[in-house]
Amino acid sequence: MIVAANFKMHKTRKETIKYLKELKRMDFKDVEVRVFPPFSALIEDELIGAQNAYPAINGAYTGEIGLEQLNEFNIKTLLIGHSERRHILGETQEFIAEKFNFYKQNGFRIFYCVGEPLEVRKKGIEAVVDYIKKQFEGIDLNYENLVIAYEPVWAIGTGVSASSEEIKETHREIKKLTKAPIIYGGSVKLNNIKEILEIENVDGVLVGSASLDVDVFRQMIEIAKEKK
Ligand code: PGA
Repeated sequence: MIVAANFKMHKTRKETIKYLKELKRMDFKDVEVRVFPPFSALIEDELIGAQNAYPAINGAYTGEIGLEQLNEFNIKTLLIGHSERRHILGETQEFIAEKFNFYKQNGFRIFYCVGEPLEVRKKGIEAVVDYIKKQFEGIDLNYENLVIAYEPVWAIGTGVSASSEEIKETHREIKKLTKAPIIYGGSVKLNNIKEILEIENVDGVLVGSASLDVDVFRQMIEIAKEKK
C-alpha cells in the first residue's frame, strides 16, 4: 500500500519539519509513505517528494526548479500531471510528457496523476477511459518506478469522493494498460479510506486536505497497514 500526502500550497518549512518528526514516530511497516510539501519546505528525507519540477538540470526558467535543485535535497520522487497544474497552470499533455521523460531518465519515482472532469464522468466509463488514455500520451506505462494516481477532478477538494463502483471500474480499466500500482485521490478522508483501500486494484491513496493534520494522516497509515 502507498499512502501519500499532497500539501499543495499549505505549510511552511518549519511546520513541515515538525510534521515529519511527528509522522516518523510511528512504524510504517510495509506501507510506502510519501509527503509532497511546497518547494520552500523541501528537505532531505526519504519520505519527501516534490510537487513539480521543470524538465531541465537548470536554466532560464523563472519561477521553476529543476534537477539541480532537487539533487541538493536528494529528492528522488516527483508528482507529475496533477489536475491543478493541468487546469490552473495550463500544463499541456506535451509538456507533461516532456517532464515525465526527463525525470524518468533520471530514475525518479514518478507519481503520475490522471483524472476526468465531471462532464466526462457523466458520459460514462467509456468516455472516462478515452479521456484518461489521452493523459497517457507520451507516457511510458511500463516504467518500473511509476505510480499512477487516479484523481477525478470533480472529487478533488470537494468533499465528495468517487463512489466505490466508479473507483473500481476506472482502476480496472487502467490496470489493463499498466502493471504500475494505482492509487486513488480525491476527498480521501478518515471516514472513507478503509472502504477505498478495500476496492480491487486500489494500491493506496493520495491525500490532500485530510493529510494536513498529522494525527489524521497517521491514522490513515494505520488503516493502510492492516491491508496487504
Ligand atoms: P483532496 O486532494 O484530498 O483535498 O481532495 C487530493 C489531491 O489533489 O491530491
